[in-house]
Amino acid sequence: MEFFIDSADTEAIRELCAYLPIDGVTTNPTIMTKSGKEPERVFDELCEVLTEDQKIIAQVVSADYEGILAEAEKIASIRGGRNVVVKIPVTREGLRAIPVVKGRGASVLATGIYSPDQAFWAAKAGADYLAPYVNRMCSYGDGVGQVVELVQTLARYGMGAKVCAASFKNVDQVHQLLAAGCPAVTVAPDVIRAMVGHPGTAIAMEEFASDWEKAYGRTSL
Ligand code: E4P
Repeated sequence: MEFFIDSADTEAIRELCAYLPIDGVTTNPTIMTKSGKEPERVFDELCEVLTEDQKIIAQVVSADYEGILAEAEKIASIRGGRNVVVKIPVTREGLRAIPVVKGRGASVLATGIYSPDQAFWAAKAGADYLAPYVNRMCSYGDGVGQVVELVQTLARYGMGAKVCAASFKNVDQVHQLLAAGCPAVTVAPDVIRAMVGHPGTAIAMEEFASDWEKAYGRTSL
């Protein structure tokens, strides 16, 4: 499975990549603006922070067909196109553009997905990844359940598109998707840190250190 960081905060990405086997980074226009930097600078920094084995997944901004195609070319040229994925929203224009961008040799992640039906059509259009917005879908119903069902539907039809579940607001949402076998997730740094850190582990470590020091008068083996 693939685990991506959903962020353009290159310091947070650097920190997490130092101790976790992260498969890449996803951004969207809002995430990019939160960096406070020009998009070209963010892409340069991502190329510096990530290895070429880690994917860079960036989104088009234009909503019209021609604009999507032009921006897809621009994104697909980042890092010489190595392990780069173009995010295209599942609008009518986006669905029309997906097979064309694929035909030009780029990988595509269909984004802005709020229903399994939108995801189904993006998969039929040839998208490599499908990004349902789990937490946002929860405003309309059982977001987690619908994404689990989507994973099963794609498997039933043998469709190659991978679900890359996105828009998580807590650890439990991520946990449920991982437990259901979701092949990819993209998660914001604060939720990733909450997945890794547990107060119980810190308490256990303090006990081990204190018991050891009391018994042996030193803090190492
Ligand atoms: C990722 O592909 C999405 O753009 C992102 O997860 C949306 O997350 P949000 O609901 O926190 O904005």
